[in-house]
Amino acid sequence: MNLFVDSQRLQRQIDDLAAISEAPAPVVTRVLFSEADQRGRHFVTDLCRAARLTVREDAVGNLFARWDGQEPGLAAVATGSHIDAIPNAGRYDGVVGVLGAIEAMRSLQQAGFHPKRSIELIIFTAEEPTRFGIGCLGSRLLSGALSLEKAAALRDREGRDLEHWRSEAGLGGTDLKSVRLESGAYAGFVELHIEQGPLLEQENLPIGVVEKIAAPSTLRLQLTGVGGHAGAVLMPERHDALLAGAEIALAVEQAALATGSPDTVGTTGVFRIEPGAVNSVPCRAWLEVDVRDTRLETRDEALRRIEESARQSCARRGIGLEMELLNADAPALCDSALVQEVVQAATELGLPVKRMISRAYHDSLFMAQVCPTTMIFIPCRGGVSQRPDEYSSPEQIEQGVKVLARVLEQLAG
Ligand code: GLV
Ligand code: MN
Repeated sequence: MNLFVDSQRLQRQIDDLAAISEAPAPVVTRVLFSEADQRGRHFVTDLCRAARLTVREDAVGNLFARWDGQEPGLAAVATGSHIDAIPNAGRYDGVVGVLGAIEAMRSLQQAGFHPKRSIELIIFTAEEPTRFGIGCLGSRLLSGALSLEKAAALRDREGRDLEHWRSEAGLGGTDLKSVRLESGAYAGFVELHIEQGPLLEQENLPIGVVEKIAAPSTLRLQLTGVGGHAGAVLMPERHDALLAGAEIALAVEQAALATGSPDTVGTTGVFRIEPGAVNSVPCRAWLEVDVRDTRLETRDEALRRIEESARQSCARRGIGLEMELLNADAPALCDSALVQEVVQAATELGLPVKRMISRAYHDSLFMAQVCPTTMIFIPCRGGVSQRPDEYSSPEQIEQGVKVLARVLEQLAG
């Protein structure tokens, strides 16, 4: 089947969605259920409807856009990604897998394809960990990886919970229990995404196929010291929360290096203090620490060292410590038959493929728990991601969309 992807239309949509942001261009920021996130969701919903897809929303705001197959009783084939964005992000992360999937379906429609299985685009809620400190909120609930109790305990910086934000988003009164997928709901899931790393570009390859997704974890720490006047409180009397936090941030670096594996990475991405005045000793600090690895053993070893260092630093400095492991997920293994489908689709299009590990996490990490899953990667300039200068060319995106369309055709045909 000869597929035409309307790359210009897709680029316009990527630009239009990028303009829906909490920050001025070129920065894209769309924090979960912020006004910009809501407008982005409406924008995408309208595009899905224009593509004659049937849209529904579940109780956590995951959006499902379905192209009904001729045999609707069969498990559907799913694709999708996210449109929320961390502060100071770019325009391609997640978006390529959402808008690209709509374009893939349009190209199949235009070619006269009639799927046997339904094809469903999923736009996942909060892949990014911005509001609650935990990523993949929508796909965790879909897969059952996040219990309802844990979901109810999530809090944002202001102490507001998921119920608060669900009702802000017009989802109040719906039952979170209903989000979990029934077993066998999907025959497979394929996510199109920018690589967020440099390898495809360095090797001049247009397509990657993901065989494994690294194991993420997040630690949240609250440190309570004693504040006071920066001139009056003498050094021996101090219980400075920032200094304990600084020791912990250095311990994160040490712990990641100490495993001896190049795959272990540790980042203190959030570090806030109170009161934040130059003439005041910091009395409180909040840290969020991200630790990942392709292997669970070394990831957990790094986590153990960080927790131990945090306890020691706080004890030595007389600082109160509350520490919560928000998530510690296993790596995901992708489905070898689906990987092969991607390889075959790309090869038929004359596009060489690299088999890869995803070091970033994705909703695919959790979809892999409920159905055969893989990902299609396209290059991004310099491997840059989660920055405003993130970039993939129209041609690179078009190639990814074509591979996705072919895979969907194969799986649903
Ligand atoms: C995904 O957003 C990640 O942080 O890997
Ligand atoms: Mn993403």
